[in-house]
Amino acid sequence: MQTITLNSPFDMHLHLRDNEMLELVAPLSSSTFAGAIIMPNLVPPVDTKEAVLEYKDRILRAIGNDQFSPFMTLFFKPYSKEFLESVKDSISAIKLYPAGITTNSEGGVESIDTVALAPTLNAMSELNIPLCIHGETNGFVMDREKEFMSVYESLAIAFPKLKIIMEHITTKDAVRMLDKYDNLYATITLHHLLITLDDVAGGMLKPHLFCKPIAKRYEDREALQKVALEAHPKVMFGSDSAPHPKHAKENCGCAAGVFTSPIALQVLAEFFDKNNKIENLQKFISNNACKIYNMKPSSKIIVLEKKEFKVPSYYEKGDEKVVPIYANETIQWNIRNYNGK
Ligand code: NCD
Ligand code: ZN
Repeated sequence: MQTITLNSPFDMHLHLRDNEMLELVAPLSSSTFAGAIIMPNLVPPVDTKEAVLEYKDRILRAIGNDQFSPFMTLFFKPYSKEFLESVKDSISAIKLYPAGITTNSEGGVESIDTVALAPTLNAMSELNIPLCIHGETNGFVMDREKEFMSVYESLAIAFPKLKIIMEHITTKDAVRMLDKYDNLYATITLHHLLITLDDVAGGMLKPHLFCKPIAKRYEDREALQKVALEAHPKVMFGSDSAPHPKHAKENCGCAAGVFTSPIALQVLAEFFDKNNKIENLQKFISNNACKIYNMKPSSKIIVLEKKEFKVPSYYEKGDEKVVPIYANETIQWNIRNYNGK
């Protein structure tokens, strides 16, 4: 049987939520991933050192004995250098949301002004703290990421030593930026490699595929696929797995977010295999991220095998139910074991 062995797969953009949802979804990442960058968009947002440390503790409790490192982030606000020095060792990055652009981002930045934000961004550059950005304007939904490119450019130029990560890129315009500025990097999700707007809204409306940024055109997907499959050194996998309760998705007024973490590795293996690029998956899923974030791989070994697997219709714990991408469908790859067992 065809297999692939991955060393320390990392998910560089993950929503684990809190309370019962955290307890439901955290083990679905920690069983297969070696670690993840944890998004701070809780209510209220994670914006103090205490909140970071307490949230990390709750995550560690939720994953039990799994070998999994939660790499914590702070919700971007104007922070003083003293504060950043004090919190630096407890975080891996700071996440900037334009105000109101997505789930729980109301406390984000109203206007991304390089002069107004300079004290915080200069301090982050000096302290080597990466800046992760949800790069969308509040323009027409299909143009929001494209319109944000000028903001990325002005930040990349004004703060050349700041590592800027364009999160969950969805357009060919964002792919182009990667080679234009040394300090721009990107995460790419599973779903944006696989779907276009046609899958979301071209036939029956598919709430479980609705997310921010919305899936785009075929040529955009092609540009993302190309840099992922070649494991471009400035891109890394970030699932943006964003669970919402089943009732909040299957609702008029559907919450944005696609839940992918339990089958992300399996479907990535299928995608890289189909495109004859399986040898590049290790870089996309781990090595590139280790270089970009200066992390050491742990020694978590995951073996995947080419064997059919039927995706559950939902996962549940207590009163929480969450529906994964490809619910009830059969995928071609499965997890064999952990750490060689
Ligand atoms: C995310 C969420 O639900 O927290 N939703 C999404 O559609 N991706 C937030 C985000 O990353 O935009
Ligand atoms: Zn996200």
